[in-house]
Amino acid sequence: MMLALAGFQLAFALLGTALTFPTIETKKGLLSFPVLQKRSQSVNLRKRDNVVALGNVSTLTYLIRLEIGTPPQPVEVVLDTGSFELWVDPTCATAATQGQEEKCNASGRYVPGQSSTYVDKGAKQYIGYGKGGAEISYAADSILVPGSNSQPLRNVVFGVGVDTTELAWGVGGIGHGNGFNLHYNNLIDELHAQGITQSKAFSIALGGQYSETGGAIIFGGVDTKKFGGKLHKFDNMPPQIEGSKEGPWRYWVQMKSVGITTPNKVVATYEYSTMPALLDTGSTWSYLPQHIFDSLQDDFNATLSEDGSLEVPCSIVDQPGTVDFTFGDLTIQVPYSEFISQLEPGYCALGVLPRKGSYDRAVLGDSFLRSAYVIFDQTNQHLYMASYHDCGTNEQILSGEVGAALNLTGQCHSGHHLFASIPMCWIIVPAAFVLWVLVLFL
Ligand SMILES: *[C@@H]1O[C@H](CO)[C@@H](O)[C@H](O)[C@H]1NC(C)=O
Ligand SMILES: *[C@@H]1O[C@H](CO)[C@@H](O)[C@H](O)[C@H]1NC(C)=O
Ligand SMILES: *[C@@H]1O[C@H](CO)[C@@H](O)[C@H](O)[C@H]1NC(C)=O
Ligand SMILES: *[C@@H]1O[C@H](CO)[C@@H](O)[C@H](O)[C@H]1NC(C)=O
Repeated sequence: MMLALAGFQLAFALLGTALTFPTIETKKGLLSFPVLQKRSQSVNLRKRDNVVALGNVSTLTYLIRLEIGTPPQPVEVVLDTGSFELWVDPTCATAATQGQEEKCNASGRYVPGQSSTYVDKGAKQYIGYGKGGAEISYAADSILVPGSNSQPLRNVVFGVGVDTTELAWGVGGIGHGNGFNLHYNNLIDELHAQGITQSKAFSIALGGQYSETGGAIIFGGVDTKKFGGKLHKFDNMPPQIEGSKEGPWRYWVQMKSVGITTPNKVVATYEYSTMPALLDTGSTWSYLPQHIFDSLQDDFNATLSEDGSLEVPCSIVDQPGTVDFTFGDLTIQVPYSEFISQLEPGYCALGVLPRKGSYDRAVLGDSFLRSAYVIFDQTNQHLYMASYHDCGTNEQILSGEVGAALNLTGQCHSGHHLFASIPMCWIIVPAAFVLWVLVLFL
């Protein structure tokens, strides 16, 4: 989610106090959460001038469950690399649709009065979204560290919804915090400051569109069974100009090109598709400049629908084509089956909307990120990427050292290659049979 930032600095004069308490003894060095998938009827949040609105359709949102307070109260928040603050307790009655209100009701609430460790920080803030927004009141409280029977993360500052509009969930903003966009420690900062992680880094696998499992976020670590081959290292680009003002720090990476590989293996690379791209798990869709959107429309023979999306026949979803995103010498090939979403029965659309405006900038949301494994390393301002695969779990600690992730190799074989998925005996046995037949007839 791209959040409006106006006035965010004001509130933090009050919050900038040094937090002093003993650090937690954890040998583990990492903290992992499953990524939850929730489907809901939605009205796009980002109804702003540079983005097209999308109507009443079913979309997928990725969340994590946090347990806040003493005793712990579970709440689900949207996993959002595009913003940098955590807040909970949206006003469900004002959710955009009834379906969202239901989801909101079921997402858990944090009741400050029921926590013995709650601290009122005495500051309020309004976070505006394209459509809707949240007035929050800052609190500090403990957050449970799953798998650790020692202490929780203590005194974490976050927002409690006072009055929010058109939002079904709170937001777990895990962008750049203290020293970048904030004057207080956000969740990533606290995990590092309190010794849970060795670096201000985390990795994300969202998991496939139609698989309920396979997604995980690991703070301070990497899962080498969630990707194949080597990770590629990229610079986290500095703030990119957004409109007329300097933007905040975000996870910007230089994208070299966008293209397509059709089911008939025709490869096309789009002109003028080199640009900075924002990696944003809080965005369901990817936003590309109009000329690339138009090229995709042509190449998919797609129909521009009233809501601004590109409709394609649902029958192409299972065809073996890919939409290709290249960064340096890494190309992430997003299969049609992950890039195209069924929004209603019989209504399928590409996971892309046009991004208007004079600057060429891309936002790569879930429609891209599902096919990537990404490490966000704020300690060294690097982003690492590889193609996502799921072949189990093998979590490893990520030290704060520059390039530490380059030593980790993904343990999965690519699902795209025929022979990787066929047991060797299927090849050896027929080969032996052919030999035997040959011997017989010679
Ligand atoms: C959105 O669509 C769902 C199912 O198609 C329907 O039940 C609901 O009333 C619609 N909401 C709006 C606001 O149109
Ligand atoms: C959500 O919860 C409120 C309060 O308990 C209730 O009044 C409302 O009907 C619920 N909404 C839905 C859609 O379930
Ligand atoms: C594009 O779609 C139209 C209408 O759906 C169809 O008539 C036409 O044959 C398609 N063209 C190609 C090249 O697939
Ligand atoms: C990578 O591995 C090599 C060999 O094990 C080691 O010498 C080097 O320090 C490692 N580099 C990082 C950045 O961890």
